[in-house]
Order: sequence, then structure tokens, then C-alpha cells
Amino acid sequence: MNRNITDSIIYIGANDHDIDLFEGQYIVPNGMAYNSYAIIDEKIAIMDTIDKSKTDEWLQNIDAALKCGMPDYLIVQHMEPDHSASIQAFVEKFPQATIVGNKKTFKMIGQFFPELEMKNTLEVENGDKLDLGGHELNFVFAPMVHWPEVMMTYDPAEKILFSADGFGKFGALDVDEDWACEARRYYFGIVGKYGPQVQTVLKKAAALDIEKILPLHGPMLEEKLGYYIGLYDTWSSYLAE
Ligand SMILES: [Fe+2]
Ligand SMILES: [Fe+2]
Repeated sequence: MNRNITDSIIYIGANDHDIDLFEGQYIVPNGMAYNSYAIIDEKIAIMDTIDKSKTDEWLQNIDAALKCGMPDYLIVQHMEPDHSASIQAFVEKFPQATIVGNKKTFKMIGQFFPELEMKNTLEVENGDKLDLGGHELNFVFAPMVHWPEVMMTYDPAEKILFSADGFGKFGALDVDEDWACEARRYYFGIVGKYGPQVQTVLKKAAALDIEKILPLHGPMLEEKLGYYIGLYDTWSSYLAE
């Protein structure tokens, strides 16, 4: 299901219409999307892996997006299994690639994949940058949105915020449905109790020039970003709409 987000960013995620309950508890009548993106630059970065039910499709998407290229980096923004389950398969297929995460990420990788041997790793701190050539990725830590290791990634070249679970929604990408209903249900099910932490991230995001938001679930958001960010502000402040 590859498609170009921009000239150098390609969608390589997958839809899941076989899923019964997301995280074993949330009904998802229109399925779920596990998003992943390839940034094609002098160095190639893959933004997160996807759920284990779709590993093969994801690896095929990487091959199609990169043509004969090899990924240089795998950026791990979130370790929940719907995004991390294919790390082992990635390392086996691309052993030379550098796995990028923070201290907490690598602790979790060790717990989730005790057998996994990573040749190359890069541990980043909040505010660190990673130069791919034309794109310089800026890591913005977002603890507890939705787990402690979560980080978002800002790409100033394209004015894109890779927002991890933030701004995600239930529903596969090949289903046409209103954003807010399923984003609201997702938000309150998954991160609703971490309102103060979401507020902290919104303050960090306000300092960035953002034209597109690329979450790990649901569609890319562009245009009316004020509307989406405004809803997040309301929800995370526990105010009534
Ligand atoms: Fe999550
Ligand atoms: Fe997720």
C-alpha cells in the first residue's frame, strides 16, 4: 500500500481488517492502520516498524519503496508491539542498519527481544538531531504519550511532525470516515489519562512550524491543523467540547 506523502517520504504501513479487538479491548469496526514511513535521502530512515500480523507486507513495502536501496536507520518512536513487533525481522533483514532510540527504548528492546543482536545502535537524547542529508530529524521526547519511551520526530525540511500515537485514530486507511469520532475514542482509550503529558507535548509542538502530522495510526493530517490540535488541547485539558 505504498504511496508518496512527499517527494521523499513514502507510506509503507498496512491496514488490518482481520483484527477483532485493538489491544485486546477496543472494538475497531473499520479495522486499524499501523503506519510506517520511509524517508528517502542520502541516508534512508524508516520510521517505526508495524504489528507482527503485517510484518511480511511491511518488509515488501520497504523493498518497493527503497527499490534497491538499503535503510540506514530504523527510528523507534514507540515500543508498544503494534509498532515494535517487527524490529527483530527488520534487524535480521537489514543487519547493517542503525537502530535509533533513547535509553528507555533500548531497555525495552532488550526485554522484548532478549535474543536480538543489534550491530549498530544510536541512543539519542531529547533535542538531538540526526542528519540524513536534506532532512535533519529532531527528536522530541513525549513521555507517557502513550508509554514512557515515546518520542516524536520533527523534520524541519518538510515541516512534518511524526507524532507517534498522538493524533492517531481507530480505523484502517481505506475506510472513509469522520476523523474526530474515532480519534476521540482512540485518544480517551489509549492516552486519555495522561492529559498533563499531552499538554506538555502540545506546548513543544507550538514552537515548531508544522504543515503535516504523520501519526502511527490513522491518516496524515494536513490543512486545518488548528482544528486537530485544538481538539487535542480540549481533550487533554478535560474540558467539554
Ligand atoms: Fe501505543
Ligand atoms: Fe499505537
